[in-house]
Amino acid sequence: MGNYTITVLPGDGIGPEVTEQAILVLDAIASRYQHTFTYHKRLVGVAAIEAEGEAISDESLALCRQSDAILFGAVGGRSDYAGRDKVKPEQALFKLRKGLQFFANLRPVKPLKNLLSASSIKPEILQGTDLLVVRELTGGLYYGHLEPPVPGKPSEIRQTEHGTEAIDTLLYTEAEIERILRVAFEVARDRQKKVTSVDKANVLSSSVLWRQVANRVAAEYPDVAFEHLLVDACAMHLIRKPTSFDVIVTENLFGDILTDEASMLAGSMGMLPSASLGTQKTAHGRLGLYEPIHGSAPDIAGQGKANPIAAILSAAMLLHYSLGLKDEAFAIEAAVAKTIEEGYRTEDLREAGATIINTQQMGQKIAAAVLK
Ligand code: NAD
Ligand code: IPM
Ligand code: MN
Repeated sequence: MGNYTITVLPGDGIGPEVTEQAILVLDAIASRYQHTFTYHKRLVGVAAIEAEGEAISDESLALCRQSDAILFGAVGGRSDYAGRDKVKPEQALFKLRKGLQFFANLRPVKPLKNLLSASSIKPEILQGTDLLVVRELTGGLYYGHLEPPVPGKPSEIRQTEHGTEAIDTLLYTEAEIERILRVAFEVARDRQKKVTSVDKANVLSSSVLWRQVANRVAAEYPDVAFEHLLVDACAMHLIRKPTSFDVIVTENLFGDILTDEASMLAGSMGMLPSASLGTQKTAHGRLGLYEPIHGSAPDIAGQGKANPIAAILSAAMLLHYSLGLKDEAFAIEAAVAKTIEEGYRTEDLREAGATIINTQQMGQKIAAAVLK
């Protein structure tokens, strides 16, 4: 029995639709385990730009910092418009991640046994897949090395005597690499004790440094198997033999791309949750930001087609990592598995014999399963 405050940032497109279902499931947990969750809802993304002139206000950021955890939906308009706007909704993510120092982004990929046939990959390849991508989240190309550094302004387009040019810089410090590698090795100790460090050391200087630091950190964990893999080969191995991975650790952009690819192992973008963690402590654990890996999906927004499971599993990660409520987190995972086992699916997981339900119905089924 505890009291917890959660800042909720539903955002744009399907963000509010899936976040609403995550809250429904959290409320079911509150009722079953007699907890009190107090939600502080704030604007983020396009909605915040329209109402407050920026993707997330300093006041909302301060509220995030004071809460026990942050539940985030998705931000962004149509991806083909993204380049033209001056203030981008995605800046909210950079401000949150950099501002609260959430440098470690955990993205677990564990296909449910009843969803093996829903994936575009053969079930016999998927069988037994259980991997975790540890994505570095506050460095690399997303935060170009402008002087002075401008959070959320990762690139620059400028006029030169040769014409217009654009620049993005990929900078990593030894300390940034070391701390994310340590996260990977520590979590691997609680899993299958294998770390794959993914880089592009045949081309990039930042990857050469990454590899040196990774080797040094790996030597401190002799009980954990360790290998290097080039990112292009990793993209191939992920769908050739996903069971060969346990923990994958990689830099920001590689982790972003590889996890969208990996989401298809689980059947859909709508299935992968994430936790973004730093070092800030709260009364109950570590402050964290929890969000599905998918975006605002403008193509399906407002149609009840969004799969809320990634958001619901993100809420489970919130319970686990920020509130220290592991049984409750497991209860959500079990409720998701049971609902899928019973044959309920959202549109993205449509297959023969399944019962197709909408976003809200999926949330209600999972909440009901939590209470059973
Ligand atoms: P997207 O992840 O929004 O959608 C990619 C595809 O997956 C679409 O076809 C979409 O319909 C489908 N999809 C995504 N989530 C789904 C769900 N829960 N259920 C069913 N289908 C789902 O990526 P995009 O279309 O490239 O980007 C749209 C916008 O979202 C862009 O503005 C982008 O910047 C933003 N974005 C935000 C976040 C975030 O807030 N963390 C993450 C990724 C993209
Ligand atoms: C994600 C998203 C974001 C990222 C975008 C929207 C900035 O794709 O969280 O995976 O690239 O980090
Ligand atoms: Mn992404």
